[in-house]
Amino acid sequence: MCGIIGYVGDGHDTADVLLDGLSGLEYRGYDSAGIALANATLDVFKREGEVSALESALEGADVHGGAVGIGHTRWSTHGPPSDANAHPHTDERNRVAVVHNGIIENYQEIRDELTAAGVTFVSETDTEVVPHLIGQALDAGYDPEEAFRRAVDRIEGSYAIAAVFVGSETIYAARESSPLVLGVGDEGHYLASDVPAFVEYTDRVIYLDDGEFARIEEGGIVVTDREGLVVETSIETIEWDPEETGKSGYDHYMQKEIYEQPTSLRQCLRGRVDELEGEIVLEELADLAVEGPVQFVACGTSYHAALYGSALLQERGIPAQAFLASEYASERVPVGEDHLVVGVTQSGETADTMRALREASAAGAETLAVTNVVASSAARECDHALYIRAGPEIGVAATKTFASQQVALTALACVIGGGDSREVVRGLRSVPDKVQTVLDESTAREVAAEYVDADAYFFIGRHYQYPVALEGALKMKEITYKHAEGFAAGELKHGPLALVTERTPVFALVTGDGEIARKTIGNVKEVEARGAPVVAVTDGQSDVEQYADHVLRVPTSTPVAAATVANVQLQLVAYWVANMLGRSIDKPRNLAKSVTVE
Ligand code: F6R
Repeated sequence: MCGIIGYVGDGHDTADVLLDGLSGLEYRGYDSAGIALANATLDVFKREGEVSALESALEGADVHGGAVGIGHTRWSTHGPPSDANAHPHTDERNRVAVVHNGIIENYQEIRDELTAAGVTFVSETDTEVVPHLIGQALDAGYDPEEAFRRAVDRIEGSYAIAAVFVGSETIYAARESSPLVLGVGDEGHYLASDVPAFVEYTDRVIYLDDGEFARIEEGGIVVTDREGLVVETSIETIEWDPEETGKSGYDHYMQKEIYEQPTSLRQCLRGRVDELEGEIVLEELADLAVEGPVQFVACGTSYHAALYGSALLQERGIPAQAFLASEYASERVPVGEDHLVVGVTQSGETADTMRALREASAAGAETLAVTNVVASSAARECDHALYIRAGPEIGVAATKTFASQQVALTALACVIGGGDSREVVRGLRSVPDKVQTVLDESTAREVAAEYVDADAYFFIGRHYQYPVALEGALKMKEITYKHAEGFAAGELKHGPLALVTERTPVFALVTGDGEIARKTIGNVKEVEARGAPVVAVTDGQSDVEQYADHVLRVPTSTPVAAATVANVQLQLVAYWVANMLGRSIDKPRNLAKSVTVE
């Protein structure tokens, strides 16, 4: 996820509009930022770091004046944060500057082709192919608009792209599966990934659709389709509180991040599923050879994802185990050169996980970071890195990153485990849509209202749903400050059943209609018989509803995918209970987003 902004007009200072806009978009990425101003010359300024680093770099520079410009704040996917990888990117002759949000799936093929034609690349990004393609088309005699369209036609994947040309006062833009909104002002026009970027200047907007192009000039905006035919657009007036910048209209970042999951999951899968073969392709792990057991090390929510990952590998006959990173010590755990040790860490900076990875590496193991942050410590220090591509997560409680960890670990298990992955691939591909269905139809708010005063909350599940039970309880504890506990459903009768009363709702994860569902229903009956309210999270395939006081319905999925889909209901219940209790949802007491002490 990155943020883009553009402005054309002479009512405001272009550089100021771009920098203000980038600050409003920093929630979408903040590892580097840049702007391009098109005058008689094309001037590009970019810096690694937050927008403030770019602002400091521009102090005293001659950037003011000029009627058109674009800007970008980056969350790395291809190439680590650096000045060179920051956007905008230009062609070799500095005639065009481009900003992009999304992933270009066929960039390697295009890059190879351009390199063979003599083009020199200066960054490791997928985006840089675009200005070079445009440059080639300009060389071939096409005008800027046609050159832009031809370049966009060549790329596959997701994009919101904007380009400015030397000596021109027009912004060209295109959209496919990445957000892009145009702002219609009295003193100029705007484009951005999201409304907060320009809401202080105008509240009139045009939402671009997939496959549409825009030509934005001071005199007006023209939107066209792929064939170049003009599309009729409607201008909407939005209500927006500038204070809400970054939350896109949601009350909390956590809520927004829960609702972003269909998008972040699609981003995680993009370019990694071979639809024809029914296979997973993880190009970044092409030289990963797993010869022995696999150990996972992780903390908190990431540990729950690690438990899920180890279950996936065990199912494929690979000896795998998940360790709490703080409990992992190479002198106690047998680890050697034939081991792969996987650090699952959203931030890539958690001290406990880093220590465990370093110990494993010192013992000769191969190491792999499964992380959200490109060039984080884990990504840099491990032998391999697999990015979950969830985009920045601002809420302290992990939500969308857990879902993306689950999906990335499923992909990893297919690659390491080999064999026929068709069913898993099918399940994975449908996860974003099924999560969307849950978000659209969930009755979690009513369930939360029913049990907001409960003494404690219990969560039970088996197999792939066991880590989800643990995660459901962790979310509830973190943001409601109330007691919650997750159990393997079969363990309940070995002690925890003593805690169960009519004031302790039990959330039971029951998906499918097989042996696992049947046994969990047995455990549901045990709590029901003791008077505890039961909330079944179910796809309706079994008869668990008969024993439940409330049902949180999820669409039917494959067993692997069901764990990701069902978890969303628990995120929503925790969110609404915390909301009703008036808790500090995005910054719960005593907690920090990244824990860099052991
Ligand atoms: C819970 C949560 C924490 C983190 C844990 C590990 O919502 O966010 O439990 O999962 O601190 O953090 P990472 O994944 O950054 O290593």
